[in-house]
Amino acid sequence: MIGERKRNETYEGRRGCGLNTRVVRVDKDNPDKTVLQEVGEVIKKGGLAAFPTETVYGLGGDGLNAGSSQKIYAAKGRPSDNPLIIHIADMESLAQITEDVPEKAKKLAEKFWPGPLTMIFKKSDRVPYETTGGLESVAVRMPSHQTALALIRAGGGFIAAPSANTSGRPSPTSAAHVAEDLTGKIEVIVDGGEVGIGLESTIVDFTEEVPVILRPGYINQSMIEEVIGPVRMDRGLLITDEKVKPKAPGMKYRHYAPNAELTIVQGSTEKVVQYINEQCLALQAQGKRTGVIGTDETRKFYQGTVVKSIGTRQDEEGIARHLFGILRAFDEEKADCIFSESFDTPRMGQAIMNRLLKAAGHHIIYL
Ligand code: TXA
Ligand code: MG
Repeated sequence: MIGERKRNETYEGRRGCGLNTRVVRVDKDNPDKTVLQEVGEVIKKGGLAAFPTETVYGLGGDGLNAGSSQKIYAAKGRPSDNPLIIHIADMESLAQITEDVPEKAKKLAEKFWPGPLTMIFKKSDRVPYETTGGLESVAVRMPSHQTALALIRAGGGFIAAPSANTSGRPSPTSAAHVAEDLTGKIEVIVDGGEVGIGLESTIVDFTEEVPVILRPGYINQSMIEEVIGPVRMDRGLLITDEKVKPKAPGMKYRHYAPNAELTIVQGSTEKVVQYINEQCLALQAQGKRTGVIGTDETRKFYQGTVVKSIGTRQDEEGIARHLFGILRAFDEEKADCIFSESFDTPRMGQAIMNRLLKAAGHHIIYL
């Protein structure tokens, strides 16, 4: 049986309830085919398996099986109107689950698939409404992670997979994060080590006249526009007005939130450090535990509080990769209030700030 031979005892049974979740380790670039074949069988039979992708870990089930999608919502505690992405491993599969794939989308696929890009099209009849949260459209992605691709093939070709976290918690960037949230709730966790990107895929909606970015990610707006010309950002992403709803149902929910109250502080380094130090002192005087998300450059300036560095400002991909892990780490610290520097970096700043702002419930101080 899967996992009996490579069970990771540290994850096992931590939050046991219901299922005996097995953890199988694979070499991420050269995964053991027999192991993935067995995990694929679990998925084909309607079970659930978490697996690494280049963005975050996914919680996979058979995307063409309504019952599997229902199980995914239940395991995550996710509202069932929040649609799932179907992961595929080749272009032939795209035609089977969609109608009307525009030329521009084909161009983007040629450039960025396999990779951290999800595209939304009109769905074909093969895709059950349970997978699309009742919508007529379907989100599709071809990941570049070798383990993910091999598992998709082994699992029947169409793996529905949201991020493998409990709904509302930061997305998982390691198998240990998945185990924290889903032990006892799914059959298998495929441990392929840390992910490469650390933020979820860019989502582009092709069901509108002009393609719309519903979620920013590693592939940014200008990279997309270089290939297909103008696209627009979903208004719900740019405006914090409660009445303007984002089009991706998942983007409307409070998300990624650590247990502590998170505040982002933006301004010159000097002012930010001074403000955060003052706030931490005042809060500690009230008996609160405080924390700071700083950088390698600034961590030494914060005093008398728990400080975690997200990495150096010289490496924005590192900042993106560490964000969700650092939010989880503050839950372990049992912090009451966390302050974070702002990370409006040149290439991935939009994606990083989108996640950070959601985690903070849009609470940001400008100095
Ligand atoms: O990188 C990723 O995309 C990861 C990995 C596992 O592939 N997956 C992921 O899935 O982030 P999830 O379910 O956590 O986020 C998918 C987002 C949600 O906000 C959902 O509402 C939106 O995509 N979405 C899915 N199908 C949609 C559709 N047909 N129309 C509009 N939004 C859709
Ligand atoms: Mg998610």
